[in-house]
Amino acid sequence: MSFLDLAQSRYATKNYDSTKKISQDKIEELREIIRLSPSSINSQPWKFLFIEDEEIKSKLAEISFHNTQKIKDASLLVVFTRIDDIKIFEKQLHENLSQGHIDYYNQKIKDKDEAEIKAWFENQIYIALGFFISACSSLDLDSTPMEGLEKENYDKSLNLEGYKTVVAVAVGYKDKDDFNQPSLNPKLRLSKEEITKLI
Ligand SMILES: Cc1cc2nc3c(=O)[nH]c(=O)nc-3n(C[C@H](O)[C@H](O)[C@H](O)COP(=O)(O)O)c2cc1C
Repeated sequence: MSFLDLAQSRYATKNYDSTKKISQDKIEELREIIRLSPSSINSQPWKFLFIEDEEIKSKLAEISFHNTQKIKDASLLVVFTRIDDIKIFEKQLHENLSQGHIDYYNQKIKDKDEAEIKAWFENQIYIALGFFISACSSLDLDSTPMEGLEKENYDKSLNLEGYKTVVAVAVGYKDKDDFNQPSLNPKLRLSKEEITKLI
């Protein structure tokens, strides 16, 4: 399938078929794909939690506003977290990244406000999010990116230390009658002319 075909067919799934589970091979492939997500200076200020355990998934579903049923029925929930403790980031940076990237961080990022540095971390998470939902579609999996979560309660339920929840993705197989699939609910987007310009 071409990337354009993927972009036209993927959609934010609203109802999942709870009887269909994702194979372990596909889960391993998703883990490898997300590991390969790009990030500014290869910073990788993240951890991705792949949750299949029904008890934990149900507990998180209850602290996910209007997303409760999706999370219960989807086979997998992936929680995208960013580093919250700058010391963890700097240790990771020094242990793993090239001198050029370390120099860039020291010169351009390190002296910013802590809030700005964390916002920069969060920007990287959203790159991984786009990468990941496209990857799901390429593996014939349906997915829903979700910001509608009680993020602080996610952090507590998952016992996160030094990391904070940013966004999560439900992954699985759509209910065949899901009202939101593009064949029943065509995609709404601004026109190419409005949002792109050939110069
Ligand atoms: C960062 C982000 C957060 C979103 N949060 C939710 C959410 O909490 N629940 C939900 O059902 N859809 C959520 N969506 C889905 C969007 O509403 C959806 O992507 C948008 O309406 C475009 O529709 P499409 O993805 O079906 O093409 C989110 C999407 C993104 C990218």
